[in-house]
Amino acid sequence: MPEATPRGLTRLAFGGDYNPEQWPEGVWHEDVRLMREAGVTMVSVGIFSWALLEPAPGVYDFGWLDRLLDLLHENGIRADLGTPTVVPPVWFYRAHPEALPVTAEGVRYEFGSRGAICHSNADYRAAAANITTRLAERYADHPALAMWHVHNEYGVPVSACYCDSCAAHFRRWLASTHGSVEGVNEAWGTAFWGQRYADFEDINPPRLAPTVGNPAQALDYRRFADATMRENFRMERDILHRLAPGVPVTTNFMTALSQCDSVDYWAWGREVDIVTNDHYLITDGRRTHVNLAMAADLTRSVAGGAPWILLEHSTSGVNWQARNPAKAPGQMARNSLAHVARGSEGAMFFQWRQSRRGAEKFHSAMLPHGGTDTRVWREVVELGAALDSLSDLRGTRTQADVAVLWDWHSWWAQNLDWRPSEDHDPRERADAFYEALYDRHLTVDFAHPEADLSRYPLVVVPALYLMTEAAGNNLKAYVENGGTLVVSFFSGIVDEHDAVHEGAYPGPLRDVLGLTIEEFSPLLQGENVRLTGPDGSELNGDVWTEFVVPRGAETVWTYADGLTAGHPAVTRHRLGEGTAWYVSTRLGAEGLDALLGWAVEDAQVVAPADLPRDVEVVRRAGASGTYLFAINHTAADAKVALAGTGTELLTGVRAAGRLEVPAGGVRVVRLDG
Ligand code: GAL
Repeated sequence: MPEATPRGLTRLAFGGDYNPEQWPEGVWHEDVRLMREAGVTMVSVGIFSWALLEPAPGVYDFGWLDRLLDLLHENGIRADLGTPTVVPPVWFYRAHPEALPVTAEGVRYEFGSRGAICHSNADYRAAAANITTRLAERYADHPALAMWHVHNEYGVPVSACYCDSCAAHFRRWLASTHGSVEGVNEAWGTAFWGQRYADFEDINPPRLAPTVGNPAQALDYRRFADATMRENFRMERDILHRLAPGVPVTTNFMTALSQCDSVDYWAWGREVDIVTNDHYLITDGRRTHVNLAMAADLTRSVAGGAPWILLEHSTSGVNWQARNPAKAPGQMARNSLAHVARGSEGAMFFQWRQSRRGAEKFHSAMLPHGGTDTRVWREVVELGAALDSLSDLRGTRTQADVAVLWDWHSWWAQNLDWRPSEDHDPRERADAFYEALYDRHLTVDFAHPEADLSRYPLVVVPALYLMTEAAGNNLKAYVENGGTLVVSFFSGIVDEHDAVHEGAYPGPLRDVLGLTIEEFSPLLQGENVRLTGPDGSELNGDVWTEFVVPRGAETVWTYADGLTAGHPAVTRHRLGEGTAWYVSTRLGAEGLDALLGWAVEDAQVVAPADLPRDVEVVRRAGASGTYLFAINHTAADAKVALAGTGTELLTGVRAAGRLEVPAGGVRVVRLDG
């Protein structure tokens, strides 16, 4: 069994992508000297180096990498060694131009960037297997090797290819998934618009068509593209396992839903030895630390709750958004430690030394263009020391209060064309419910709809349009056994083939929610509806309304105006030992808070009291003890109640009863006992 932590790493991971091939070798010595000064423990190397390692077909130059790994080892720095299969060299493409991916419109990409890969291409697969084998043979026993970093961020920038090799591969995938062409016709509902197929050979990827194509075909294509990338990951992983037994293998995920939408990380989480993630702040005016917390929680969840590693984030600004603000003083440490609070075993960056050339020269780094006499460098050195003081928490697990259901397949299905309203966005609902829970200082686990939910007192379902019968039964059993469930509109509508469940909406949720929905009635842009509650309280909804028919559920809020006036808007259903809430419109922050207030009471979930909104409190616990993280994202000093006594690890000061957390600061208390 490969290890589940980087081999030989005895501290938290701290370092970054290191691309020394962009610099003369003389610079490398300064690099490692400064790495030691900053307390760097691990770097990721070789991710984009195929053209240097194999300058011509079958001609290898490993000398520079030998020297680099030796240098790292001599300086006590561990290596996360990349397989460079995300950037085949130009000679490869000139020999195999059909390995360049093709868009749905039929345009073939050119060489000159990165990630231009058709994952079905046999020549690519052979070349990737070959360079992976060479690396594994050469470095399996290198003392610097901590883990393997396969490829880079599968799923971006190209999420699917539509070429002829993919068409052939898709047909094979369909045959093994559906058994026969009749099975495909049935699953896709090809009786509609006369799309019936007589032979697998007639089936193509969902390429450009005059109007909307078959949604089930489009959904299957997303599954196929994801599965095809996973085949290639497995192919490399198995080579590495065979030639370097025991060394863990990872590939860096991008779980933030705004950054990658083409990969089913539930499936990928099961394939890697260590889950690793890349996260970048999206500066769209929203609270970036909430999005960060959500991505970190999702990462931990796809790791099954086990520790994971933040493999990339940024010390300051990035360079690929329209506007790229620098991070504020202290923000990098807050970001890093927020990831650690939520299960990361360290904080790594893109990248170590800021590039002088190439597309990413304006992206921040640990060692900026300005050198060591810079704020960023000073904060990097401080962070290295902070992480060092937290070494003991390795192996502990973040403790969650509630679960939110999430499923990439449902997301893909719901984002297909011709839905009741283009204003309804499942990701927006996931963000909004997450934020409402965050604001109540509750720590969230994400869960697959068919996962065992019994340990959670409260389960929230933001918008799960695609839901299997099995998931519906799972939720019913969860409530019957005493759970509290909150379901938002447009959930439980279709099965795994995007076919509407038989009977009234919401098929598999009818019994658990105690209602049916006769009709959806989305609102026009800018339109609002008022809801009145039992105590006369008022809420607002927009985007969506429904004609809900209670069949056992009680009505808690009622539509006060609009087409659905007088009909239930929010319902509660007691079933067995538990309770199921349903909300049929899009509530804003205030409405979600009110709804969750009721649900939290039903579930008897207790949240930390009297905390300012943007002060985060998260716990990790395990063999080495319980660690309380308090992260203050506000501009005012804050006080956090402490049950018991402990030692604050970043300052070494004893803490009792109450913890002072300075404005913009972080405190980590290891509790006594
Ligand atoms: C990541 C990528 C890195 C670098 C970084 C910049 O997505 O893995 O190689 O490009 O973005 O933010």
